[in-house]
Amino acid sequence: MKSVKRAVSILGLCSALLLSACNGEDSPKETEQLETKLQPIVIQGALPVESERMASKLDNVSVETVGGWKFWKGTYKGYPVIVSKTRMGMSNSAAATALAIERYQPIAIINQGTSGGHDPALNVFDIVLGKYTTNIGAFRTPRLPIGSGSNSLAWTEAFDVLPEDESDPEPIAIRKFEGDQQLLIAAHKAKTSYSKGNVVEGTIGSADVWNNELDRIQFFHNNYQTSVEEMEAASVAQIAQQFNVPFLGIRILSNNITNNGAYNPATGEACQDYVLDVVEQYMKQQLDKN
Ligand code: 5AD
Repeated sequence: MKSVKRAVSILGLCSALLLSACNGEDSPKETEQLETKLQPIVIQGALPVESERMASKLDNVSVETVGGWKFWKGTYKGYPVIVSKTRMGMSNSAAATALAIERYQPIAIINQGTSGGHDPALNVFDIVLGKYTTNIGAFRTPRLPIGSGSNSLAWTEAFDVLPEDESDPEPIAIRKFEGDQQLLIAAHKAKTSYSKGNVVEGTIGSADVWNNELDRIQFFHNNYQTSVEEMEAASVAQIAQQFNVPFLGIRILSNNITNNGAYNPATGEACQDYVLDVVEQYMKQQLDKN
């Protein structure tokens, strides 16, 4: 079904290209026609402060609400874009992702928003491109008798919730989802327009936990190379992988307790502006490819 749709859209794209080649020019109307031949890109934010700015920049917007999830469908600089407000956490973001893939057959998904620093070298307003995204909430704990207490620093066995061998009920491995190469290339191109901090590649760690224990944060940073933590990206990556949809997590530091970086709510908007530039670069790349 998906491949049929893709073939149809590529066919449409080819005939539009032919049309503009015959005319020997690219009028704005034809460019617009070309751009709308692409499948939409989905860009997600958990909270209103992480999604509404992107939605406000869309043209030709219509809003679709499914269950508790809101989608703005429109165009950005002529390119088809869906902005999705996932709400917070792993379950909400997984559900929003599956719905978006089924309803809109996106060309790619970007999960973006705020995060807390795990790397003391990163400052508030720096942006991490998720070369890797990993679940830091799934573990098998050591067996301890009643009365022994609980020490999360001894939880050294990460639990892989997406194992190849589904007959193993206790698969122990850390799973790192790789960010899509083409999305990463677009994100690097968009760097030149971002002046509020550095943009670096790193590892995004996700769980339904807000960690404030510095030893625990250091544990993740040392053992899983996490640059930042947040509550959605790995869950989105897990769903996108199973549908074979290209994915990238992009997270701005809104706080970093490893170097006393105080929470700044303005980071949510800064990240959205940057991500719109990434979207433009990526969609341009896709058009050039065809
Ligand atoms: N820890 C966990 N989640 C964070 N978020 C921002 N900073 C942090 C942090 N230090 C993001 C999550 C969630 C909301 C609480 O903000 O992704 O959506």
